[in-house]
Amino acid sequence: MIKPNPFVEDLIPYVPGKPVEELERELGITGAIKIASNENPIGPSPLAMKAAMEALSGVNRYPDGDAFYLKHKLSESLGVEPGTIIFGNGSNDVIDVAARTFLGPGDEAVMGEYAFIVYPIVTRLAGASAVISPMPGYTHDLKDIYSRITPKTKAVFIANPNNPTGTMVAKDEMEWFLGKIDGDILVVIDEAYFEYVDDPSYPDSLDYAGLGKSILTVRTFSKIYGLAGMRLGYGIGPEDMVSNMHKARHPFNTSSLAQAAAIAALDDAGHVRKSKEINSKGLDYLGVELGKLGVEYAPSHANFGLVNLGGDPMPVYNALLREGVIVRPVGIYGLKTHLRVSVGLQEENERFIRAFKKVLGK
Ligand SMILES: Cc1ncc(COP(=O)(O)O)c(C=O)c1O
Repeated sequence: MIKPNPFVEDLIPYVPGKPVEELERELGITGAIKIASNENPIGPSPLAMKAAMEALSGVNRYPDGDAFYLKHKLSESLGVEPGTIIFGNGSNDVIDVAARTFLGPGDEAVMGEYAFIVYPIVTRLAGASAVISPMPGYTHDLKDIYSRITPKTKAVFIANPNNPTGTMVAKDEMEWFLGKIDGDILVVIDEAYFEYVDDPSYPDSLDYAGLGKSILTVRTFSKIYGLAGMRLGYGIGPEDMVSNMHKARHPFNTSSLAQAAAIAALDDAGHVRKSKEINSKGLDYLGVELGKLGVEYAPSHANFGLVNLGGDPMPVYNALLREGVIVRPVGIYGLKTHLRVSVGLQEENERFIRAFKKVLGK
């Protein structure tokens, strides 16, 4: 039997959240809820749905491989040059393209031990090695990351806020780090949850474009814009860096439906505001209720929280499934006693808390 290449052989496959339909099929139930994949519980923007529907009649044609209209719209809305933007089939694709463009055998990429799981996967797929930095208090330790940089280091990945921990790196730490790092090391700053963050000390990595570093800011339409199923993410970085990434991406890596939906979503400030409000209230609610249950809960800046059960979380996970509530085990991150819970609609958050209390016998 044919063997995969050695970079693939040792990889542990990414395990997505369990789909609602699968659970309902397995248990013969209806009305299950999924708060497992950090999705937007209010749905996509109605404007985005309408635009995607209108674009449907044109899907006999290939999409615009350069996403011209979306690129210009985003460039205006963010105040960056169009040539600094690259789109992908979700931000995962952008992260993968960055790794394939800049990493190769013999190179190292530094990342946090609980950082988003796609970073070690794309690093290893590119033939490079992942160098792991501990995350005390579940947070990226930029001093430690810096101390692990060697002449072999080609990239650093920082998720801000991080998934699955919800923690963030503050402006002063980020600025210290960027002040130290060489301009020829790729610094991926993954801001998938950017729009949710309220903390005034949160750094917007686009502010560092003038520093002459190789920063790739990565964002997505999957989270606050509610378009996870459309698959559209983007990266922003220095033009010559991004133009090399264009060589490595697939020619039509974003669909015409996704492009149309994203253009419309950018115009729907009301949908973004509502999504953020519901998320902030949900985070507060979960924080208070989990606090009452005496469960350790890492303060989150994103649209999910990390719960530490202090022991094997799988019996609780499975019991929650039987209550029709899907959350996410995160053992693959080395977080062996934790579950990640995404913020849902208020009624979903309440249902989770009711089910959680029942399962814990509280
Ligand atoms: C930190 C982080 N980055 C990137 C992604 C990828 O999102 P997408 O590929 O849907 O844009 C996720 C998804 O959960 C994430 O949590």
